[in-house]
Amino acid sequence: MVEATKGKLHFWDAVWDLHLDVCPCDAHFNQWTDKANISNAAIFHFGTGTHHIVGLHAAESGRNNCVLGITASPGEYDTFVKLAIERPEVEKIYKAVFGDIYQLEERLLPGFDVVTLFHLCEFRNERNDEYGALTDLEVLEMLTRKTRVGGYVLFYTKSFAFNTAEGVIAQWEKAGGVEKVGMFETLLVYRKTA
Ligand SMILES: C[S@@+](CC[C@H](N)C(=O)[O-])C[C@H]1O[C@@H](n2cnc3c(N)ncnc32)[C@H](O)[C@@H]1O
Repeated sequence: MVEATKGKLHFWDAVWDLHLDVCPCDAHFNQWTDKANISNAAIFHFGTGTHHIVGLHAAESGRNNCVLGITASPGEYDTFVKLAIERPEVEKIYKAVFGDIYQLEERLLPGFDVVTLFHLCEFRNERNDEYGALTDLEVLEMLTRKTRVGGYVLFYTKSFAFNTAEGVIAQWEKAGGVEKVGMFETLLVYRKTA
């Protein structure tokens, strides 16, 4: 454990610009919302990037969707603040919070129609353990409880951690109440059934 980080929040000391060749999940998600005709929906989105294309698409698509995004990157959060100031019509329907997804507080969360967990298992490690953060499975279970019946939970199959995430998803699926819908581009789509 590096002394400088001990006891501190496991934030992401980097930023992610749009690299569609490396990580197309957010673009594929936006395409999926159009294809699946997702409208009037409350969307939870794990990992905003600096580009915020999920929030921007929601604002520009005319589908009346709204997005709560989370980023653990101070630099990405700065770009959200700038976007919010520049474009109040986007800020109206797109809120990004800074924090560790593994510290989400269930009592503060509203219900969602769609949840993206594209980066499941990518970032959690012993630094999150230090402060007793939720596990990947616990985050998945909590956000599923917050998903309305009939709503969707989506994963990114090209994530570098998808091998690990698959085990978590299998455990979650086995517990019931969700069904696999299928693939859309690189995304694995589930629906909450009960
Ligand atoms: C590789 S970037 C991908 C961003 C965007 N989804 C894309 O594909 O372009 C990973 C994202 O996960 C976020 N992230 C990393 N660890 C996190 C954590 N513990 N809680 C919340 N977000 C986290 C980062 O802030 C970043 O937005």
